[in-house]
Amino acid sequence: LTKEVSVTEKLQSICDLLEEKVSHYDWVGFYFADAEKRLLHLGPYTGEATDHTVIPFGKGICGQVAESNQTFLVDDVNAQSNYIACSMTVKSEIVVPLFVEGKNIGQIDIDSHTLRAFTQEDQQFLETLNEKIASLYV
Ligand code: SME
Repeated sequence: LTKEVSVTEKLQSICDLLEEKVSHYDWVGFYFADAEKRLLHLGPYTGEATDHTVIPFGKGICGQVAESNQTFLVDDVNAQSNYIACSMTVKSEIVVPLFVEGKNIGQIDIDSHTLRAFTQEDQQFLETLNEKIASLYV
């Protein structure tokens, strides 16, 4: 018996699993880029609902990663001037771009309620995860 599982369902499972299994991951979600309109749109996520379902390129940590094409690891979100607060309980964040055939199509965004929660190990893990996710698109 086989069941067709859509990319969206797979990404939702990844969010659910990461939020459940990694203690310092408190909100896990994907944003996807509309390059023409220079907007990010929220995709599958796990955690508190957010008002920020659309983020312009350049705004917040997510919007900066849409332009820089580089992982942004934030030890203390309150020390960032270009930051969009989703919840007062968030203390640190990591945003890792998702490349498909060299193009930055979006990102995984993870929030933590712990200061300085993310390390190089998280960065390496999430960059490798995104490489695997990219293979769902080709
Ligand atoms: N904090 C992000 C906004 C997205 S929420 O964390 C879900 C930012 O500054 O871009």
